[in-house]
Amino acid sequence: MWACFGPADGRYAGTADAMRIAILGAGHVGATAAYALMLRALVDEIVLIDRDLALARAEAADLSDANALARPARIWAGDYGDAASADIAILTAGAATHGTESRLSVAARSARIVEDCVDALMSEGFSGILLIAANPVDVMSFVAHRRSGFAAARVIGTGTLLDSSRLRQVIGERLDIAPTAIDALVLGEHGDSELAAFSTIRIGGMTLDGYAASAGVSPDKAEIAALVRTAGYDIIAGKGYTSFGIATAIVRICEAVLRDERAVLPVSTMLTGQYGLAGLYMSLPCLIGQNGIERVLTPDINADEEAALAASAGVIRTALDMLADDRPKPTAPSTARISSQPA
Ligand SMILES: NC(=O)c1ccc[n+]([C@@H]2O[C@H](COP(=O)([O-])OP(=O)(O)OC[C@H]3O[C@@H](n4cnc5c(N)ncnc54)[C@H](O)[C@@H]3O)[C@@H](O)[C@H]2O)c1
Repeated sequence: MWACFGPADGRYAGTADAMRIAILGAGHVGATAAYALMLRALVDEIVLIDRDLALARAEAADLSDANALARPARIWAGDYGDAASADIAILTAGAATHGTESRLSVAARSARIVEDCVDALMSEGFSGILLIAANPVDVMSFVAHRRSGFAAARVIGTGTLLDSSRLRQVIGERLDIAPTAIDALVLGEHGDSELAAFSTIRIGGMTLDGYAASAGVSPDKAEIAALVRTAGYDIIAGKGYTSFGIATAIVRICEAVLRDERAVLPVSTMLTGQYGLAGLYMSLPCLIGQNGIERVLTPDINADEEAALAASAGVIRTALDMLADDRPKPTAPSTARISSQPA
C-alpha cells in the first residue's frame, strides 16, 4: 500500500466528524478538483490517491503550500484505506483523450481503470457517495454502479453539468446576459450525441425565443449547440486536457451532497423509464442531496428533442454493449457484470 505524505507518517486517521473527500486519480482533473475544493473550503480533508505516488505526493505538497493563504484543509497522498471513511470518493482516474479522439473511443481502457479503483475502494469498506468524472462518463458511471453494487442513487456521473454550464456561457455571450441568469440544460450523453435542450431555456421566466424576439436578436441555435458540443475538443487542441470547467462541476455536485442542498443539477444517472429509456446512465436534471440522487426530473421537451434524447441513449447503449463484448465470456452460471440491460 502507498505511504502517506503530509499530515501524518503512515495512514492519517483524521478526526471523527471531519468531512473527507477522496480523489482517485491525481492528474489534471483530480488535482484541479482538489484545488477548487480547497478554495471553496468545502471539506476538512482531501486525500489524493494515484498509482503514480510521486505525482500524488507532489500535488498534495503543492496544494498544502497554499494552505496558510486559504482556509486550511488537510491534504495528503494516501491509499484506499484513507478513502474508506470519505463522504465522497471522486473518480477521475481514467484514460484521457487526445486530439480528436472521442470520449467513447477510450471506454475499454477507462473501464479497466475504473473497475480497479472501485474494487480497491470497496475492499476497504467505502460507504459514501461515488462521483464519477472519468470519460466516457456515462459508460464509466454505469460500470462503477455495477461494480460497486451501490444503489444507483449513490453513484453519480458528472454528466452534462459541464456542458450545461458551457451552454449558459455561450448563450450569455450571445445575448449579453450573465450566464448565471440563464437556465439551460444539455441532456443525454456527455459527448458527441448530447442534446442542447433549447425548449427548456428560461431567462427571467421567458423562453429563449421569446426573449430573443423581445430583444431583437436571433441567436443561431445550431451554431451554439455545435460550439458547446465541441468545446472540450477545442480546449484539448490548445492545452492538451480540460480541467477548470470539470473541476468546478465536481465541486458543485460535492457541495449539493455535503450541504444536503436538494439542488437540481443535470448529472448522469441510471434511467428507469424516463422518456421510455431504462438500463443506462445518462444525464437528466436530478434532485441531489446528502443521499445522492433523490429524484430524476423529466422536463417538458419537444418531440424533436425527445427523439434526439433517444438517439443519444442509443449511442451509450451501443458503447455498453461493445464493452460487454470486449470482456471474456462468462462460464455458466452467468457472472457478467457489464450489460446494458436494466439494473
Ligand atoms: N467528465 C468530464 O466532463 C471530464 C472532463 C475532463 C476530463 N475527463 C476525464 O477525466 C479523466 C482524467 O483526465 P485527466 O486529464 O486528469 O487525465 P490524467 O492522465 O492527467 O490523470 C489521470 C490520472 O489517473 C491515474 N491513474 C490511472 N490509472 C490508475 C489506477 N488504476 N489507479 C489510480 N490512479 C490511476 C494516472 O496516474 C493519472 O495521474 C479522463 O478519463 C478524462 O477523459 C472528464
